[in-house]
Amino acid sequence: MSLRFDFNNLFSFSVGEHGVSQQDIDEILADAQKAAEHLKKIISQPEARIKLGLEWAKLPWQGKEAISEIQKIARQITKKYENVLFLGIGGSYLGLKAAQDALCAPYFNEFKSLRKKAPRVYFEGNNLDPDTLGALLKNLAPKKTFVVVISKSGETTETKAAFILVEAWLKKAAGAKYGRQILAITDPDSGSLRKRVKAEQEKDALSFQALPLLKGVGGRFSEFNMGLLHLAIAGVNIEELFSGAKEMAARCSQDDILKNPAYMYALLHTILYRKKAKSLAILMPFSQTLKSTADWYVQLLAESLGKKYHRKIQVGKNGVENWLADQADLFNQGRTPIAAAGTNDLHSIQQNNVEGENNKVITFIRVEKFKTDLKIPDKSDLLSKKSFSQLMQLAQEATEWALVSQKRPNCTIIMPQVNAFNWGALLFFFEMATAFEGELLNVNAFDQPGVEGYKNYMYYKLGKPGIPQAVTEEIKNKPLIKKPEFIL
Ligand code: PA5
Repeated sequence: MSLRFDFNNLFSFSVGEHGVSQQDIDEILADAQKAAEHLKKIISQPEARIKLGLEWAKLPWQGKEAISEIQKIARQITKKYENVLFLGIGGSYLGLKAAQDALCAPYFNEFKSLRKKAPRVYFEGNNLDPDTLGALLKNLAPKKTFVVVISKSGETTETKAAFILVEAWLKKAAGAKYGRQILAITDPDSGSLRKRVKAEQEKDALSFQALPLLKGVGGRFSEFNMGLLHLAIAGVNIEELFSGAKEMAARCSQDDILKNPAYMYALLHTILYRKKAKSLAILMPFSQTLKSTADWYVQLLAESLGKKYHRKIQVGKNGVENWLADQADLFNQGRTPIAAAGTNDLHSIQQNNVEGENNKVITFIRVEKFKTDLKIPDKSDLLSKKSFSQLMQLAQEATEWALVSQKRPNCTIIMPQVNAFNWGALLFFFEMATAFEGELLNVNAFDQPGVEGYKNYMYYKLGKPGIPQAVTEEIKNKPLIKKPEFIL
């Protein structure tokens, strides 16, 4: 058994009227059962999985050959280069960063002894801030750097802008064959990055190596696909990661909702959202190395469930569903995720969690055994002879108590150790819980139409051709209002 899930503090017997009662569960259980059957049905249908974006549920079962091929590429890169620069944003970045922090040694880039034989790993293209990319390119040696550009569409502004710059930087140092220092992870057939890969490979077969982002896998659900090269380069055991994910998949396929951890998590949070107005979801691992996993979860929850419209299901002649945004059924909801970390945020957000508006549910991740432990020497102090892990666990328990004493609902995911097995299980758990929550809310958890607004505005201002007329009109007719008297 990998992870354990302690839901006690979500119930009314712990937090009174702010918690879930047996009656609340009884009221929703029949609908939840139908939702579970629906999700299971789609996951069992290959065509529906791909069409609707649920292929992530099968990623832990990827063939050994595909993984060996990725590991081979990783070995070639590792042998030849001192640095690997990953360019990507959103789902093309957050999973990689979360894995780097959780599964690689802290201070990985700083110390060779911690990296073992792996190259230094850098992430860029996840922002348009010129300061970070500028500093990196100024100091990194281009001839010793391999670049992995990750973009499903190939069109994402942040990644594209960084890649154009990085290409010029590589070319200047490495000359015409600079493309041999580039690998693209992108859509297998379409998109501008795939087109570029094909064109470059026609000129030089060793240039622009590529790996596919599998069909039916959306960015935020893609760590077990587009994150694999990074994991192999960083020396993470992919088989172990997949074993953990598979074990969790088995636990999360149980039909009994009350025994299924992902279904239970989604069910209890949905009740707390709908009936108790708990609209904020704070993920607070008590582990610094899991903070970026909380950032990954923020994207997963926000993009999957924060939706304008409910889902309208149409069933095609072949029995495969088509999901549309039901424009007659406004939703405009979705819990707001927030990433935090213990114990540092006990000295910040915790004040509000305990005494501010009672509108949130906090999920802790409690690590039972840290990779290292430190014992405080005997100095006749309260802390003498205590270990850091003991104090960390006590702080987590104390935080639970402080919240419960103020009737603040919270729950704890107990992680025996932060390793590939448990981390794989954790990601799969959150993915399944989010998919199930989408079913309970009846929204499409696998698209992100709301992200288009800012992109369209930027494209319009940048003069990109092909923007739909209706979008152009809306931008023209509804400009931002900037009254000088309100700019102080
Ligand atoms: O979850 C998603 O699909 C998005 O967050 C994308 O990952 C993100 O927008 C990056 O897109 P792309 O990989 O096309 O550059």
